[in-house]
Amino acid sequence: MSRIMVPNMAGIEEAVRILKDGGLVGLPTETVYGLAANALDGGAVAKIFAAKGRPQFNPLIIHCHNFDQAAELVEMNAGARAAAEAFWPGPLTLILPRKAGCPVSDLAGAGLSTLAVRVPKHEAALAVIKAAGVPLAAPSANKSGSLSATTPQHVAEAFGDEVELVLAAGACAVGLESTVLDLSGDAPVVLRPGAVSAEELSEVLGRAVGYDHGDHDAPKSPGQTLKHYAPAVPVRINAIDLLPGEALLAFGPIKFMGIRGGGAAKDLPEDSLRNLSEAGDLHEAAANLFSMMRALDRPGHKAIAVMNIPETGLGVAINDRLRRAARASGFDRLD
Ligand code: TXA
Ligand code: MG
Repeated sequence: MSRIMVPNMAGIEEAVRILKDGGLVGLPTETVYGLAANALDGGAVAKIFAAKGRPQFNPLIIHCHNFDQAAELVEMNAGARAAAEAFWPGPLTLILPRKAGCPVSDLAGAGLSTLAVRVPKHEAALAVIKAAGVPLAAPSANKSGSLSATTPQHVAEAFGDEVELVLAAGACAVGLESTVLDLSGDAPVVLRPGAVSAEELSEVLGRAVGYDHGDHDAPKSPGQTLKHYAPAVPVRINAIDLLPGEALLAFGPIKFMGIRGGGAAKDLPEDSLRNLSEAGDLHEAAANLFSMMRALDRPGHKAIAVMNIPETGLGVAINDRLRRAARASGFDRLD
């Protein structure tokens, strides 16, 4: 079982120690309990997905202790300033363009060019984020497909040893996830309804705010699917050798991999070769996935050939992501 501590000084210090060490903490917020990790540490973020048993890498909300910390990560615009002024700290998440050089791990943002940020209205959460000195990625602390956790017992029961510590601050005041407001496009759109309504947001923003009723955990129609990072270059999965002009996204040793027509994969130029994990570690691979795909996603490459990833643990989510990319390139039936 996870340890449970109250968020006094000792509890907060212990949470910070675990987070700095790359571990997971069950964190109370005013909406629901979050499963928190250091947002800058891809390996720690990979643990969130492993623990949730998510079939997909959905982008996570990045929790900050104030507006200024959030403004270091995303491009704030006039609407974002007004919404934050009115509702932060509080149950409102803003989707905004990532700043150039934003240090949040690509895995936490699922490789997207936008990022979800919020400042929770909970003393313990704010104290932990501030003392940790880094923003925290935290989805709702429930197993994928289960109800969100609103008490510390829910969190401890669901995750057992996967979460080292749960900070227990009783039941959550709101009990429902934050409103997700997309301010990255031309018109403001609520992607997930929550305690802050579209009407309240319209008033503050001085313009109409629409609803996109897509259920982002289980999209019902293509128009309602969450946007995913898609490489411009075709992706070919389960590659056992390379075609001339292809880049290689490797997993494990590549000593014996050849290029059709002659040559060895290990001799590819540096910008055509990335290894998700030489040791074959799925957590390391997940942490590297989006940034390495991006690095190989250049017009000079005919395709990105990806080696087979085992369909276990985080491999399920990695393969889900790769299959979508391959399908988009019409390559999924070839291999
Ligand atoms: O109340 C909450 O928001 C809780 C507490 C812990 O803060 N967190 C939470 O996180 O509900 P999660 O991961 O369960 O939900 C995140 C939502 C998902 O619907 C996800 O699709 C959306 O935010 N989201 C995150 N980044 C996005 C992005 N760049 N574009 C569109 N949607 C995004
Ligand atoms: Mg959730």
